[in-house]
Amino acid sequence: MSNVLFVSSEAFPLIKTGGLGDVAGSLPSALLKQAQDVRLLLPAYPDVLKNTTKKKILAKSSYYYLDVELIESRLPGTNVTVLLVNCPAAFDRPGGPYSNQFGREWDDNALRFAIFCHAAVDIALNKLNLNWQPDIVHCNDWQSGLIPALLSLHKKRPATVFTIHNLAYQGVFEQSTFADLHLPGELWHMDGVEYYNQLSFIKAGLAYADKITAVSPTYAKEILEPEYAYGLDGLLSHRKQHLSGILNGIDEKHWNPGTDNYLAQKYNRRSLAKKSINKTALQKELSLPINQDIPMIGMVSRLVEQKGFDIILQALKEILKMPLQLVILGTGESHYELKLCEFEKQHPENFKIVVGYNEALAHRIEAASDMYLMPSTFEPCGLNQLYSLRYGTLPIVTAVGGLADTVINASEENIRNTTANGFVLKNKSSSELLNCIKNALSLYQTPEIWQQLQVTAMSGDFSWEASAKSYVALYQEAIKEI
Ligand code: ADP
Ligand code: GLC
Repeated sequence: MSNVLFVSSEAFPLIKTGGLGDVAGSLPSALLKQAQDVRLLLPAYPDVLKNTTKKKILAKSSYYYLDVELIESRLPGTNVTVLLVNCPAAFDRPGGPYSNQFGREWDDNALRFAIFCHAAVDIALNKLNLNWQPDIVHCNDWQSGLIPALLSLHKKRPATVFTIHNLAYQGVFEQSTFADLHLPGELWHMDGVEYYNQLSFIKAGLAYADKITAVSPTYAKEILEPEYAYGLDGLLSHRKQHLSGILNGIDEKHWNPGTDNYLAQKYNRRSLAKKSINKTALQKELSLPINQDIPMIGMVSRLVEQKGFDIILQALKEILKMPLQLVILGTGESHYELKLCEFEKQHPENFKIVVGYNEALAHRIEAASDMYLMPSTFEPCGLNQLYSLRYGTLPIVTAVGGLADTVINASEENIRNTTANGFVLKNKSSSELLNCIKNALSLYQTPEIWQQLQVTAMSGDFSWEASAKSYVALYQEAIKEI
């Protein structure tokens, strides 16, 4: 058994902006089941404080002359202990974890997450007298990047694992930030935290962690190439022997069409006929024409380039000429919101865009749709295609990252050998997207085949168990090696 400090800047159900929140909300429980003593470290944002109970102050400290309390609580719905870094100056403000209510990144993000990292380092080195010290510090994404770097300066320290959820977000700040944060001078060099004369939080994690993981095997390979590495392929190639890919799992309690309380009608793979009740319920909810036979394509997504909105917009006029309904729930870059709203105005009979973040609607779209659109330009793992598979909603995806690892194309051969569970674009183009949708629509007209694809999709094992075991094996390796 190891003691694991799992560090994340978000965790469902307390705070979530994307898949990292889902992972940090469910992987720690899976690690507990593998007999690891896991504590989850989170910033104490207002929503986090509001939604946690039985809080206890464990320690007090101060970083950059700002008062910090370490509060213990529980991740709701689990047995996972959460440790909250309560620094009101950094985290007690309205808006999101990384940006304000208008989507503008907080100006002091470097300071905010440096405080978070210092608290983690103090726990790791047992400086807060918690009566508990980790053997492993498992860091996630750039917000936790300084931790492996700072810990590397200590002889007696826990081992560190850094998981890349998305290399496109790096936490890069101007050079003066390094001095402002009083970071140790020995970290400032080309193989350290310095990145083209700037301070890179993610590079700090990648350069100094004992082990690096990416959230799917394919993404772990892709990021060795310039196309996917956002400038970090050199460093990652250099650290290749410590880099591996471990596929994300899903929280099967929360994402299960058989028990999902958000749905108008629960169903499973033996009662697939009931699934369409969710379609008509959603059509009613969103004021779309009610018709259980028309194929519905769904999408729940951050509205960013990564998710393939450029090729979707190029193809949208043609897509909306087809006999289908398209429903998108998302929030993000305003130019995408505007263009999608424009299309909605022109095609109210078969297109609905809901701008915003809505957990319940996300579940209802997964259940109501027949197909799920995810033609990402890159996708470290992707959780929505996994939710879709579980809900018998066949994903239409590009062959990148975790999408390539989890979706098997409905080719004639794969249908024959009953492995097909979705539709995979041959390349990332709008014409190929149209081809794939046409192919999906034509197979939809053959209910026996469609149902077989759905059953295959719903029978896949996307639980955390296997991946949690892989993390535990990696922890053991890291502990042995330091
Ligand atoms: P990413 O982390 O890149 O955004 P993932 O597929 O890994 O992509 O995870 C996205 C998660 O965020 C899913 O749980 C998805 O349902 C959720 N999500 C994204 N946008 C919204 C939204 N507008 N409303 C509700 N949930 C959303
Ligand atoms: C990131 C990635 C997504 C992945 C998620 C959780 O946000 O974009 O592909 O599923 O992290 O690891």
